[in-house]
Formats: sequence, structure tokens, C-alpha cells
Amino acid sequence: MATNITFHPGAVTEDERNQLLNQKGATIWLTGLSASGKSTIATALEQHLLHKKLHAYRLDGDNIRFGLNKDLGFDQASRVENIRRIGEVSLLFSLSSTIAITAFISPYISDRELARSLHEKHSPAIPFIEVYVDAPLDVVESRDPKGLYKKARAGEIKDFTGISAPYEAPVKPEIHIRTDQVDVAGAVEIIVKYLEEQSLIPA
Ligand SMILES: Nc1ncnc2c1ncn2[C@@H]1O[C@H](COP(=O)(O)OP(=O)(O)OP(=O)(O)O)[C@@H](O)[C@H]1O
Ligand SMILES: [Mg+2]
Repeated sequence: MATNITFHPGAVTEDERNQLLNQKGATIWLTGLSASGKSTIATALEQHLLHKKLHAYRLDGDNIRFGLNKDLGFDQASRVENIRRIGEVSLLFSLSSTIAITAFISPYISDRELARSLHEKHSPAIPFIEVYVDAPLDVVESRDPKGLYKKARAGEIKDFTGISAPYEAPVKPEIHIRTDQVDVAGAVEIIVKYLEEQSLIPA
């Protein structure tokens, strides 16, 4: 814990920044089993928003582990720290009036609640939109684009979410998408409609 540090406020408030840039920031937090479609939907959503000339930036599990979180492994403490840092980084992006789109399994309710609380405790509160990217285990296991379920079943990956480690489904997510019933374009449409309804982006 650092001591002798003092927060240095900016000369521009969050509201003023939003007005100057003509955009509000928010974090769209995608959670769900591996192969449920988080990265696929995040990529399509980012593209859609950028084409509408809105600032959007994707923070994706594997990519973040190549850089910011390359010092972290997959033990319990590292997983918690992984999500805590993503929560902080997504807050910084959203404070810069960007729509941050995160795509992490983030299997534990407590970790997601921590990320949410960072946003909601901020003054002014920053919208945190939890999106449950949901498909049954047999469906995601049959997709298995990275071959991870196969390895997990063979015992080659320990503590794999859905197989040998729990996934705690969101209790009250802002958005729930069944990717075995809705295609990628449909998923993007659902999220965009929510953003429009909340006046986070122009309709
Ligand atoms: N409706 C859908 N939405 C999203 N992806 C779908 C859908 N239907 C099929 N897919 C396919 O499912 C796979 C989802 O893989 P993706 O990498 O997006 O999952 P993920 O949730 O990011 O997994 P991980 O946690 O391992 O990164 C892709 O191959 C995608 O083409
Ligand atoms: Mg992914």
C-alpha cells in the first residue's frame, strides 16, 4: 500500500469531458463460460460502435494477459487480481468517455461485484452494464474453438471453469443473452438497444 500519495484532480469534470467529446463513458462487462461468445460479441460490438463514430475499446482476457497482467497466473489470488485490474482499467477507459467492452470469463460473483462497485462508488457513478453471455455447457463444449474443453476433460488443464471449477452465473445482470438462441448480430442489437434506451448513445 503506497503512502504519501495525494489524488490530483483534473481541470475538467467528467460531465464537462462528456460534453466536450459528445460521448458518455460506460463499461460493458461480458461474463460467461469459455466459448460462450464473449470475444466474438465484443469484437462485433466494438466495430459497430466505432462505425457509428463512437469511441469504444475492447479489453479481452487473453490479450490483457499478454501485457498488463502477464505477471499473473491462474491460481485463486491471481484470478482475483486479474479481474480487479481489469475493473480499474475499464473504469479509467470509461472515465475518458470511452465505452469499455470487457470480455473475461470472470466466473465469481464477488469479483464482478468488486468491478461494479468501483464504477458505482465513483462520483459521479459510471454505468456498469453486466452482460451474461450464456449458452449451455454442452453447446460451448461442442464449439470449443480453442480446444480447451477437450484438454480440460483430459485433465490437462486444472480448475477449468464449467468442468473442474465453478461458474457463478449473474443473479441480476443488466442484459442476458442466450447465444445458442441469438446470433452475433442479434447480440449486438440487444446491447445497442440497451445503450440507446439508457441514453448512453444517441438513438
Ligand atoms: N450466437 C453466437 N454468439 C457468439 N459466438 C457464437 C455464436 N454462435 C456461435 N458462436 C461461436 O462460438 C465461439 C465463441 O468463441 P469466443 O472466443 O467468442 O468465446 P469466449 O466467450 O470469448 O471464450 P473464452 O472465455 O475462452 O475467451 C466462436 O467460434 C463463435 O463463432
Ligand atoms: Mg474470449
